[in-house]
Amino acid sequence: MKIITNIHDLRNHLRGQNRASFVPTMGNLHEGHLSLMRIARQNGDPVVASIFVNRLQFGPKDDFDKYPRTMESDIAQLEKEGVYILFAPSEDELYPEPQDYSVDPPQNLGDILEGEFRPGFFKGVCTVVLKLFSCVQPSVAVFGKKDYQQLMIIRRMCHQFALPVKIIPAETIRAKDGLALSSRNGYLSSNEREEAPRLYRTLQEAKSIILNSKNMTLECIHKAEQQAMSELTQRGWAPDYLSARLQSTLLPPTQEDLEQNAKLVILTASKLGKTRLIDNLEIE
Ligand code: PAF
Repeated sequence: MKIITNIHDLRNHLRGQNRASFVPTMGNLHEGHLSLMRIARQNGDPVVASIFVNRLQFGPKDDFDKYPRTMESDIAQLEKEGVYILFAPSEDELYPEPQDYSVDPPQNLGDILEGEFRPGFFKGVCTVVLKLFSCVQPSVAVFGKKDYQQLMIIRRMCHQFALPVKIIPAETIRAKDGLALSSRNGYLSSNEREEAPRLYRTLQEAKSIILNSKNMTLECIHKAEQQAMSELTQRGWAPDYLSARLQSTLLPPTQEDLEQNAKLVILTASKLGKTRLIDNLEIE
């Protein structure tokens, strides 16, 4: 694997390649990321991964400084997955001057759910992803469904800017007990780690309540959401949101949407101790 830290060398290495597949990451890789690399390998050649902890997507109170940086073990894992290039730019390389130009997703998608609780987060994500796409110029890029809203926002960004990049969604990888793999799981104490799978179980319970109700009504959806939130709160979680939304827009469904059997997804972000976890579950 070639480890490249500057844009000029990256372009030289990728010159003439028009089937490159790309997986952007912030490092601290786990099995979830590796599954993205495998999907990338099936959908293009060469596979390019990036590791860059993007300051623009962290708020002033977020964990930018604390975010785990584990370059050596990341490199070893990527080598095993047959990644051809690791692009690992420094901040000076990617942001040599203040990044005054940025991509701001529309409010009705970027300021809801994660965007409501992490103002500016998706602006930071879109800006770095656009810049990384411009450096790598991949034909496909793989993003995990665990970051459901991020995936949708990036898809729309590519569509609106007519970027020639096909976005491939990848299923969430979970530990045996159901906890979605995430770099932030490493912040959990051992007691919290035992409690953490409850987040997914609660989503599954909410899904069953919704699916088992005779008629899917807004009332039944709100009941399922409230029950799930109160179960989490009783167990010491602090949910930011737990909400059933339309898969197509991430907006709350109307009664008419339910009557037309619109597809839903339940999304949550909840804090356990100091660690904020996100997860989601589609309702087919
Ligand atoms: O999902 C992530 O790890 C990040 O948001 C991404 C897409 C690499 C942008 O920094």
